[in-house]
Amino acid sequence: MAALSDGVTVAAARRAITRLLEANGNESAALDARLLIAHALDVDTTRLAADAERPLTAEECRAIAALAERRLEREPVARILGAKEFWSLPLRLTPDTLVPRPETETVVEAALQEIGGGRNAALRVADIGTGSGAILLALLSELPNAFGIGTDVSVAALATARANARSLGLHARASFIACNFAAALHGPFDLILSNPPYIPRGDIAGLAPDVRDHDPALALDGGADGLDCYRIIAHQTAALLAPRGALIVELGAGQEQAVAAIMKGVGLQLSGPARHDLAGHPRALILRPLP
Ligand SMILES: C[S@@+](CC[C@H](N)C(=O)[O-])C[C@H]1O[C@@H](n2cnc3c(N)ncnc32)[C@H](O)[C@@H]1O
Repeated sequence: MAALSDGVTVAAARRAITRLLEANGNESAALDARLLIAHALDVDTTRLAADAERPLTAEECRAIAALAERRLEREPVARILGAKEFWSLPLRLTPDTLVPRPETETVVEAALQEIGGGRNAALRVADIGTGSGAILLALLSELPNAFGIGTDVSVAALATARANARSLGLHARASFIACNFAAALHGPFDLILSNPPYIPRGDIAGLAPDVRDHDPALALDGGADGLDCYRIIAHQTAALLAPRGALIVELGAGQEQAVAAIMKGVGLQLSGPARHDLAGHPRALILRPLP
């Protein structure tokens, strides 16, 4: 990439990389340039402003250019950095883990609303299809006496979730098991949460390249109609919930009615309307056992 020559300042490199990414249709070019340059220089993003007039070495220019090339090829910034913040928690990622999405925080918010004033209780929580551990670790960070289990069929994803639990100091209250969603779990649970794969298989080829080419297929593929995992989860979890427990599932686009019907079929009833994400889409359903 010809955009950087050694001796260019940090500020000029930021401008140059921002322009390159903008020309490539990147809508968060300035932010991405900042994150990539900080990563290449192994400094905090706040350091870039202080170092604005520092000239870069040839080696630093090469490191920045290499990361910018990857972004120009549509690799998501979180993949390049190998990290993503979720619920203000820094999480490590690998190619085997989904990049946690901001809309999934709706599931965490819904769970905390359901718990209400009971945050100090010794709650039992399960996050089935845990990936990087995002949902489980966010909840354990808010519930000081809760104990949680994360499951996944990807052993590699579980290793990342386990490492994230350790680096966040939550490992004493988190365990991880490889199984088909809740197949290996014994109840009762106060909360069961899941952001399952929910993309209809036929839609995957048409997804944005950032998602299609970089998120693991295992994290996306929801079967022919996108609902396969909800059917499994419904059948497995109805008997695992405590009498006043709740199952909270993330929804894909247009799935609210179908998922509610699947859950009703196993005796789980809606606890209020779907929770909406910041974009206004129905994003999380809360279900409780019939009294
Ligand atoms: C959409 S990702 C969600 C990951 C994480 N919970 C999050 O919100 O960022 C779905 C996860 O379910 C896992 N998964 C897929 N099929 C599964 C199955 N049958 N049993 C358990 N986990 C499964 C995938 O490996 C992936 O980690």
